[in-house]
Amino acid sequence: MEAAERISVTFATNDNKVVQADKGANLLRVSIREKGGVPFKCGGGLCGTCRCHIDVGIEHADKVKPKELKHLTQEDLDAGYRMACQTFVSGDVTISWVKK
Ligand code: FES
Repeated sequence: MEAAERISVTFATNDNKVVQADKGANLLRVSIREKGGVPFKCGGGLCGTCRCHIDVGIEHADKVKPKELKHLTQEDLDAGYRMACQTFVSGDVTISWVKK
């Protein structure tokens, strides 16, 4: 079996910690597994806690989910904000968030 393509995720708010993940990985799951530090509560698109900013690589994020629209305005989305638990990435990204 071919190894899954790997990408890197940089957690800017966590001293620019860089970790590797499979292409198509869920941002929050990567953060939890690698101790990236993105805040979260529900993990299911309900609480809004995992709001983060894609500093670099927004083009690698998949399409915005309906659940995200409950927490993010169009302006937020245009500015590069996403809900980590609802976002899957297909290439390198750098993300930041407001420390809670
Ligand atoms: S962790 Fe609750 S919305 Fe993402």
